[in-house]
Amino acid sequence: MNHLIYIYLLCICAIIIAIRFMASPQTAALGAKISIFAMLLAIASDFVPVPQNVIYLASAIFFGAAVGILLGLKIKITSLPQMVALLNGLGGAAVVCIAIGDAHIFSSALVLGSVVGTVTFSGSVVAFCKLQGFLSKPDFRFLNPIILNVLFLCLTAYFAFMFYRHFDIVYFWALIFSSLLWGIFLVFPVGGADMPIIISILNAFSGWNSVAIGFAQQNILLITVGSIIGLGGIILAQIMIRATNSSLLKLFTSHKDLSSSSANHLQTAKSINTRDAAFILKNADKIIIVPGFGMAAASAQHALKNMSDLLRNKFSADVKYAIHPVAGRMPGHMNVLLAEANVDYDQVFELEDINREFSETDVAYVIGANDITNPEALSNPASPLYGMSILDVSKAKTVIFIKRSLGSGYSGVDNPLFFAPNTFMLYGDAKKVTEEIDKFLEQ
Ligand code: TAP
Repeated sequence: MNHLIYIYLLCICAIIIAIRFMASPQTAALGAKISIFAMLLAIASDFVPVPQNVIYLASAIFFGAAVGILLGLKIKITSLPQMVALLNGLGGAAVVCIAIGDAHIFSSALVLGSVVGTVTFSGSVVAFCKLQGFLSKPDFRFLNPIILNVLFLCLTAYFAFMFYRHFDIVYFWALIFSSLLWGIFLVFPVGGADMPIIISILNAFSGWNSVAIGFAQQNILLITVGSIIGLGGIILAQIMIRATNSSLLKLFTSHKDLSSSSANHLQTAKSINTRDAAFILKNADKIIIVPGFGMAAASAQHALKNMSDLLRNKFSADVKYAIHPVAGRMPGHMNVLLAEANVDYDQVFELEDINREFSETDVAYVIGANDITNPEALSNPASPLYGMSILDVSKAKTVIFIKRSLGSGYSGVDNPLFFAPNTFMLYGDAKKVTEEIDKFLEQ
């Protein structure tokens, strides 16, 4: 144990330093390497002292690592949220397995860890299925989420109390079963646009259940790292809740109708070609680029960087990037891609820092973004996006939307901005279109 404490301390320090480094794109890669080192150290600590069942332990680690590496190599960047949901769920399941192994002794930390771990597991499986499209638009509106949550809270508390009172393993299994259902019904009603928030909350849960099991097992590494994950998840969820103008209560108690749509397709949207778009951009003094999921799907970030360099260097334009907190499909999605394309971080601005600049902007170049610009989020209480802050692109003199059709985005609702007098649609794949514009700018 004495030696272990030094390894644990080293791990904890490495993780804290890694997170610090991840706060800036310049040092993020180093932060990732340090966290890999910390993780390897934590795994190595399982072998100090060498346990009796070392073969089982080594085989489990080998199998887990093989699956992890395979998944990491195969996963597309657009499917990362599902992957995160799955990893949260596996974290919860691991904690429940430890709890099941220790259920011969009663401890409140163990019971708490089991409940949160099971809710995390089943909730994450539902989140994964929803994001993967296996459970699109389930209609559970006949069930009142508030009543359901109170019911499961009471049931779980009752089984925990009975387990404490009679110490009968049947109550422990009943506790696990009711928590399993609780997780399912907790995540089922959450609307599409709120999925990133629920993923962060499940991430926080996976941290807190590690803390609970850490207390039950008196393992300081689990307690410390679990707290970091738990707090990190809560902070991220809070940032997104603020960005979407939502609240925890609204998140778990309201059913959002994903099928509602209000824009009128009978209206016609004006379209332009890439030559016209290049002409408009060449003559603009100030341009704000608004990237969204479509930029990621098309991998248009390098073409985009080339375009902004040309506009800046050849045409002396002031070019900035505006990032919405939930643009794309995962937190920081756009920042990661722009950093990959070596976009200078000084040119990248968060919503609250740039929104007021749209009114003095010549062109808003909206590339593969949709929901994050939808004005119905501000004006239509029936919209599933209602309450979310948006990037105010409509205030720019000209808005160019790069997308393949008038189709909707993640939330499934139409965007009336496509039909605004100052909007031009530029149909096509985000990368192809931007590359064509680059060619016109180079001529
Ligand atoms: P979306 O509203 O999903 O819109 C993306 C648009 O990109 C689509 O309308 C699509 O239109 C277009 N597109 C797709 N592939 C393209 C391609 N190859 N080339 C050009 N355009 C393409 O994206 P957004 O504005 O970034 O908003 C994000 C949404 O996802 C929000 O509703 C948010 O709540 C949700 N969400 C976010 C996260 C996080 S944490 N960021 C996680 C899960 C969900 P066409 O089909 O017409 O091309």
